Amino acid sequence: MKSKIIVTGGCGYIGSHTVIELIENDFEVVILDDLSNSTEKTLERIHKVTGVTPAFANIDLKNETETNKVFVAHNDAKGVIHFAAHKAVGESVQEPIKYYKNNFYSLLNSLEAQSKNGINNFIFSSSATVYGTPETLPITEKNETQRPFSPYGNTKKIAEEILDDFTKSNEAFSAISLRYFNPIGAHSSGEIGELPSGIPNNLMPYITQIAAGVRDKLMVYGNDYPTKDGTPIRDYIHVVDLAKAHVIAIKRLLKNDQEKSLEFFNLGTGLGYSVLDVINTFESVTNSKLNYEITDRRAGDVPCLYASTDLAKEKLGWTAERELSDMISSSWKWEQNLRNESK
Ligand code: WQD
Repeated sequence: MKSKIIVTGGCGYIGSHTVIELIENDFEVVILDDLSNSTEKTLERIHKVTGVTPAFANIDLKNETETNKVFVAHNDAKGVIHFAAHKAVGESVQEPIKYYKNNFYSLLNSLEAQSKNGINNFIFSSSATVYGTPETLPITEKNETQRPFSPYGNTKKIAEEILDDFTKSNEAFSAISLRYFNPIGAHSSGEIGELPSGIPNNLMPYITQIAAGVRDKLMVYGNDYPTKDGTPIRDYIHVVDLAKAHVIAIKRLLKNDQEKSLEFFNLGTGLGYSVLDVINTFESVTNSKLNYEITDRRAGDVPCLYASTDLAKEKLGWTAERELSDMISSSWKWEQNLRNESK
């Protein structure tokens, strides 16, 4: 019998890629999603790639009664991978209550409902933002966490603290918090990728929309950082590599291989690329020119972030395999497919 995994936010960007990897690893998947920043069409896309349409419930996890009901209905599930959250940094600064309500109510309701139903394995979608402005690089899991700049980031940091308290209070319950660096890229089929609503906040979808003629010009936020070319450095990671790490993490909990009831792992490549590196690689991979202009710094951006990948390698046996050029070419393929579909 296949093990059943509940994936909250499974119609979203990282969630949908993880659902594909779970199906390909012979798991049965149930997606819970309120479609607030995603679409039900993702289910068809997942079917196109895998031949399987996962079970789906349109559920707002802020609603305790609904959440309880769905966990009772799926109380044979073995674990939960929790992606459901709002994630726009800028919006969270404008509307902090929306972010705290959504990201905490959904987390708390899931934790309570699943543990009541004996589903005691939990993978949390965290972020390198919990490290704030790191004092040492590469960032290891031993780096101190700091109060992140944005309410969005703070929801990730506080969620990890909630998991710490909860796993201590409940012996049966185990969790792994995966701290993502900068996920970009798309599935190699071109069927699944990031679907930003409105103007993208993040670098990669903005770049592909410029190349597709949807937007005019990229604003590069500052070139006076203490980096090799003055633009900030990030650890970009292919979303498919990231998705594979979730499958490994849930298997670790199912096999009871975890060393502590709450573990943290960085998910990055260990390599840092500047904004200009990304632009130049995009231009060479796609043989095109990007229209861009250097402007002022964006509030809250840190100069340099890249991961130490040692712990994930040692404990999970996981390393990212895909290079920046793969990340860029897959993002571009996805963007072109989207544009062709909307014609
Ligand atoms: C990357 C670099 C920008 C847009 C954020 C969140 C993080 C995680 C991933 C997600 C920076 C520069 C960007 C643009 C630019 N969260 N840039 N022009 O800020 O590293 O991380 O996304 O859910 O928690 O903080 O990613 O892609 O926004 O920016 O120059 O139009 O690109 O200044 O240096 P970031 P990003």
